[in-house]
Amino acid sequence: MVKPEGPESAPLPTGLTVYLAADGFVDDLVAELGAVEAVHDRLVLAAGPPRPAAWAQNIWFDPVRIPVASIGAAAKALRAMQRNWALYAFHLHRRAALIEAKLPPLRPKPLVFPAPLPAAPLGSWTLLDAGTLLAAPRCSSPFRHGEIAFAENKTAPPNRAYLKLWELFTRLQRQPQRGEICLDLGASPGGWSWVLHECGARVIAVDKAPLDARIAALSGVEMRQQSAFAAAPEDIGPVDWLFSDVICYPARLLGLVERWLASGLARRFVCTLKFQGPTDHETAQRFAAIPGSQLFHLHNNKHELTWIRL
Ligand SMILES: C[S@@+](CC[C@H](N)C(=O)[O-])C[C@H]1O[C@@H](n2cnc3c(N)ncnc32)[C@H](O)[C@@H]1O
Repeated sequence: MVKPEGPESAPLPTGLTVYLAADGFVDDLVAELGAVEAVHDRLVLAAGPPRPAAWAQNIWFDPVRIPVASIGAAAKALRAMQRNWALYAFHLHRRAALIEAKLPPLRPKPLVFPAPLPAAPLGSWTLLDAGTLLAAPRCSSPFRHGEIAFAENKTAPPNRAYLKLWELFTRLQRQPQRGEICLDLGASPGGWSWVLHECGARVIAVDKAPLDARIAALSGVEMRQQSAFAAAPEDIGPVDWLFSDVICYPARLLGLVERWLASGLARRFVCTLKFQGPTDHETAQRFAAIPGSQLFHLHNNKHELTWIRL
């Protein structure tokens, strides 16, 4: 028997913001947000407008609650709001999939770097219970769950670390320009140096370990085999971008960044904060407090955050 779709229900404002935690980092997100209303798998619901949330991979703005009498009514209610929707199901997977099947399919092609951001808005939704949708037409990321699927280069870069920079540059729609000088601290084996070289930049690579031979042989890549902490700003000279992917405690990286900031010799910063053991939220906050900077978790970050100051 075909179920009637039932009377249409108006979306109800929730006064919430929904945060999708980076995979594996729900506890870090909750610690960062403070008081939250509910946690459903990776979805964290918190009252009020968006708060700083470095550990969120996507943020659902102004989510509404929509009572729905049937699968058809749910799909109709979403379609009435806009075209493109990404489902995040934390339970009721079959019912959610049946609703999803009635929505325009999302078939993103792997992104060939560099690429513009998708122009079409992408909303996110979930089923709170069998008869209630939680849906947000606007999200912080134009990609499904904040994840960019790239057409990967499996031959040229020496490892997959290059995906962090592809993701960052795509997200920012900004990257080093031809002829700019990039300092790449903790560069080996050279995935980041490869990306920077592909951008047309001149690269000063610093690492205690050697670069992959193919990266070291690239024209415009100069290797200095030494500690990043011994490479004094005055010795390196002015750089357009300072990149750091050095494995070290975030507090030690903060000291290095403060030294470069004080020197005035680096125009822009892109640094990975790598946590060993429990997350050092205090140092992360100190990075976030540096004026003009941003702190976030890239999909390609592990137990790491990316700090930038452009
Ligand atoms: C995650 S790897 C970097 C990967 C690199 N971004 C890439 O794309 O290939 C971390 C690097 O930090 C380097 N490292 C650790 N301590 C360092 C130090 N004190 N100075 C310079 N490099 C250091 C390691 O040798 C290692 O190559």
